[in-house]
Amino acid sequence: TVEPLIDRYGRVATDLRVSLTDRCNLRCTYCMPAEGLPWLPNADVLTDDEVVRLVRVAVHRLGVTEVRFTGGEPLLRPGLPAIVAAAAALTPRPELSLTTNGIGLERLAEPLQAAGLDRVNVSLDTLDPERFAQLARRRRLPDVLAGLRTATAVGLTPVKINTVLMRGVNSDEAPALLRFALEHGYELRFIEQMPLDAQHAWNRDTMVTAEEILAALRTEFTLLPDPVERGGAPAETWLVDGYVSDAGLPARVGVIGSVTRPFCGNCDRTRLTADGQVRSCLFATEESDLRGAMRAGADDAELARRWRTAMWGKRAGHGIDDPTFLQPSRPMSAIGG
Ligand code: GTP
Ligand code: 5AD
Ligand code: SF4
Repeated sequence: TVEPLIDRYGRVATDLRVSLTDRCNLRCTYCMPAEGLPWLPNADVLTDDEVVRLVRVAVHRLGVTEVRFTGGEPLLRPGLPAIVAAAAALTPRPELSLTTNGIGLERLAEPLQAAGLDRVNVSLDTLDPERFAQLARRRRLPDVLAGLRTATAVGLTPVKINTVLMRGVNSDEAPALLRFALEHGYELRFIEQMPLDAQHAWNRDTMVTAEEILAALRTEFTLLPDPVERGGAPAETWLVDGYVSDAGLPARVGVIGSVTRPFCGNCDRTRLTADGQVRSCLFATEESDLRGAMRAGADDAELARRWRTAMWGKRAGHGIDDPTFLQPSRPMSAIGG
């Protein structure tokens, strides 16, 4: 019997985000320092079997209907296709998606699709190879573009692109990125930068706001209201006048205004870190140790009970605007995007 993940504000978490590793093969300046971070010890990272067990508990006992795999960079996890296949074999079958930087996707898109992955979101902040090398500190733009093309070719669609704009770095590229996405049939979403970087360098003044992004897009495009119900989705979307997707549907663009247009009131997310901690929110200050419980012999009912308790304590919102706001101790790369 399913007993859902509800919190004291009445929200129901049906969307599970699982971080499969805190490691990454890029070093995006807004995410982590050039030298990387002190990675989790291997012994602390859940095994493939442990990940699959917790996903099963979430689907069978907690009413989770969507599972997204994230990182760090989830394609670095050798067991990813097997984990996807095991998740796809659950009844009811959850919707399965992946958030990736795209490196390695050219090789892995087909096996992942065959394993049961439904769709991918790929991070891409610039179309200029030199700028990419500065921003991600690696010369890998061609790999990302190849990954995007292959994802479309094997049907991991709709392929979405996530872009973080930074003032003075890539903030001039919004229209060019949208032109590129429309031409290739990708659904582009611009993301407001959040205070989740490892360096704690986030600053409201360098953050490009949803309003600024929309103004930049409107210099070249006409954005029409999107009739599709938003639900718990972080992205506010618009239809781009005059453009049609390959599937014959109106082309969309999205803005994820986490900071200036928060959507916490409709949040439907629960998170599991690579080391087996449940987080009720990206900005949670507490975690619930399911790995410890599992390794100490807890049964599935007990794991489900702990998970429900953790979610009941979910905060109302991220609190970024509160004078007492403190950045969570783990950075985004260790929580999952
Ligand atoms: P779709 O179902 O494809 O729309 O996925 P998604 O947008 O939820 O997933 P994705 O991993 O692509 O997330 C895109 C961005 O949304 C992330 O990089 C975050 O910036 C933001 N985001 C995702 N989840 C949360 C959340 O729980 N809270 C906040 N504030 N932002 C989030
Ligand atoms: N704020 C918003 N988005 C971020 N990402 C990484 N760090 C941040 C941040 N501080 C994005 C990545 C990727 C997604 C998983 O999260 O660019 O698209
Ligand atoms: Fe890697 Fe994503 Fe962080 Fe870039 S933003 S360094 S791709 S985890």
